[in-house]
Order: sequence, then C-alpha cells, then structure tokens
Amino acid sequence: MNKNIDFESLYNILREISTSLHSGAHVKDILETLVMKSAQMFKAKGALIRILNPKTKHLDLGASYGLSDQYLSKGPAFRKEFVMDLCRQNRVLIIRDILNDPFVQYPKEAWEEGIRMIVDAPITYKDDVIGILRIYFDEPRELSEQELQYLILIAERGAAVIQRAQLLEIQESRYDQLALQTEKLSALGRMAAGIAHEINNPLAGVLLYSTNLLKKAPEEGPFREGLEIIIQETLRCKTIIQDLLEFSRPSEPKAFLTNINKVVVKVLHLLDNEFRLRHIRLEIDLSKLLPEILIDENQIEQILVNLLLNAIQAIEDQGRVTVRTYVTPDRKNVAMEVADTGCGISPENMSKIFEPFFSTKPKGTGLGLAVTYSIVEKHGGKIYAFSEPKQGTRFIVEFPIPRES
Ligand SMILES: Nc1ncnc2c1ncn2[C@@H]1O[C@H](COP(=O)(O)OP(=O)(O)O)[C@@H](O)[C@H]1O
Ligand SMILES: [Mg+2]
Repeated sequence: MNKNIDFESLYNILREISTSLHSGAHVKDILETLVMKSAQMFKAKGALIRILNPKTKHLDLGASYGLSDQYLSKGPAFRKEFVMDLCRQNRVLIIRDILNDPFVQYPKEAWEEGIRMIVDAPITYKDDVIGILRIYFDEPRELSEQELQYLILIAERGAAVIQRAQLLEIQESRYDQLALQTEKLSALGRMAAGIAHEINNPLAGVLLYSTNLLKKAPEEGPFREGLEIIIQETLRCKTIIQDLLEFSRPSEPKAFLTNINKVVVKVLHLLDNEFRLRHIRLEIDLSKLLPEILIDENQIEQILVNLLLNAIQAIEDQGRVTVRTYVTPDRKNVAMEVADTGCGISPENMSKIFEPFFSTKPKGTGLGLAVTYSIVEKHGGKIYAFSEPKQGTRFIVEFPIPRES
C-alpha cells in the first residue's frame, strides 16, 4: 500500500492557500483550510496550527482539524523554548514515543485521543519562530524525505498567512486609534476654543493691572513678591491659552514646498544644549533623498519641539533619542520619526495622550501632543505612536508627498 503523497495534491493545497490569501478571505478560514488539507494530504488523524502571541509569548491555537475539543482544551501541548529549539535547528520533529517523549506535555490524554505519532514543523519568519504546524497520526509510519520537504513548504505558506493576519491587526488598531481620536478631539477642540477666547481677555486685564502695580510697588517685601507670582502665573496661563487657541484654530497652515530636513536641523540646533546638559545621546539619520513637501515650517518646528521635549522628559537618567526622516516604503509620504529609550507609555494611557489636558507630569499642560495632532491633521498627515513601558516610545509623523514632486 502506498501511503506516499503525490505532488499534485500538494500543489493543489499550496495553490488553494495562495488564492485565498489574495482573495481577502479571513485569516482564520485560511488557516482552517491549511490544517484540514495538510491532515488529509498526509492521511493523518488531525492537525493544528499554533501561533506565537508576541505579547503573552503563548502559543495560541490558530486552527485545528480532526481533534476533539476535550483534547484541545488541555491547552498548548508545548512550550515556546521547545519550539525555539526546533526552529533553531530548522527541522521537522517526529515524535514516536507518545507516552514517554518529553515534548508531549499530556501523554495520557494524547494516547486516549488515539494519537500514536506526532510530526512538528516550525513556522518561521526571518529566523524568528512565529508558530508551529503539528500533524497527528493514529498509527506510526515512515515519512520520506520528500514528504518532510512538503511539510516545510506548507509551513512556509502558513508563515505568509500569519504575517498577513498580524499586519491586518496592526492596521485595524491604527485605524481604531485614529477614528477615536478624531471624534474626541473635534468635540473637545470646539469646547476648548470657546473657553480659550473667553479667558484670553480677562487674562490680558490681569496682566496689565498687575504689571502696572508692580512698577509702583516697593523695591522689596511681600507686596512685590506677591505681584511677581501673580504675573508669573498669569503668563503661564497665557501660554496655555495660546497653545489651546493654536490647537483649535481652524486656520490653514501657510504651506510651502520644503525639505523637512531643513526644519529638523534647525530644531535640533535649538535643543542642542538641552541634550548636552542631560547627557542624552542624540542619533540623527536624515534621508538625503527626500522630496519637498507642502509644510508650514513654523508649525512643523512646533511639532518637533513638542516631540523632542517629551522624549527628553521621558528619559530619567541616561538614554538615547533618535530622529529619522525617510520616504515611506509605498513612496507616498515623507516620515519624520522621534524615538526615545525613556519610560514609555502604559497601554491604558496610550489612547489618551492626544487628548488636550491629558498629562502625567506634575507641571505638564497636556497640550503638546494635542497641538501636534491638530497641526499634523491640517497638513493632511498622520501621526502614530508606539510604546513599550520601560523600553521607550516612538512617534512617526507622515506627510503626503505632492504629486508633482
Ligand atoms: N516620549 C514620551 N514618552 C513617554 N510618555 C510620553 C511621551 N510623549 C508623551 N507622553 C505622555 O503623553 C502625555 C501628554 O503629552 P503632551 O501632550 O506633550 O503633554 P505634557 O508633555 O505637557 O504632559 C505626557 O504627559 C506623557 O504621559
Ligand atoms: Mg509635552
């Protein structure tokens, strides 16, 4: 009896997976097809795919075929270290001694499930393990070298599917993040603009009278001290109000075709001292091939100052800030990136950082990023934030390249 698989059925599986990959089918469905077809091709009892969750480092079930719920509910039957090992050797592992092999975590359950042999193929992407394809047989059998090669081919397809799933997830969460911000910011922005206008006038009055009084105050004493504090604090309010007005001002940027590197160089020069004083290493990587984009130089300066000050403030002791500019891979945008090795942002704060007045700093105004967001938006651009608590934060600002450039 010939149990070997033929090239044609393998070809059909690979083709089916490729087609569904490009047709926009759901990742889950594609993985289901993949495990089902693999099991059928090897005339096996069942098969499953587990995907390494980058956050929890667990191997989550991606899809399974031919296995009872009871067996699956036992949880991942293997640990990441083991998969890593497998991956490092880049080989397929065949387990024949179900009851005694250390790689079978639930031997008794596996035996009761009728499993007599297991074949594992690592799913890798760029030398990193991202999952595993496991085939279950109900009787021991020999696998030819060619069959093992086939299995690796299928696992490679699996890698493409998982890659796509993860990409989609990132895109979706980026979109959710953006939609949420836009909605919140427009409501808050309208309110803030109203309040800012109302407060601006009385504030100017307070400042005028207190400055006048100061001129008449005695050289020393509590009277002068008090007035100085009033003036100082009023000036602080004015800055906040100005930021607020900036944030909500509907005016269009006065944009000219500019190489963004020019702005970056100017701002870095401006903040040079700040970096030196705090012993923060600054790494600069500006693309020499940037097309000019339509930007309001003053406003972009403001964005970069905001991002850099935040980066500096996030670094307690030593650390590194990296500023990069480049053209995005799709060649549609110029990107400016500010990354730091600072304290990072907790996941629950991530959705709030662009809100006006959200600040975790004792003296923060919480307006830097709100203003930044609104300037980026007025430029038709996008801003993304990525952060890992205690590791650092990265902001990417993208501006569209005009068609004529
Ligand atoms: N690079 C960064 N690293 C860590 N946290 C940041 C960073 N940038 C912004 N944040 C967080 O976002 C909040 C809002 O930033 P921002 O709008 O500039 O206001 P502020 O700097 O006045 O607090 C900060 O208080 C901080 O919690
Ligand atoms: Mg700030």
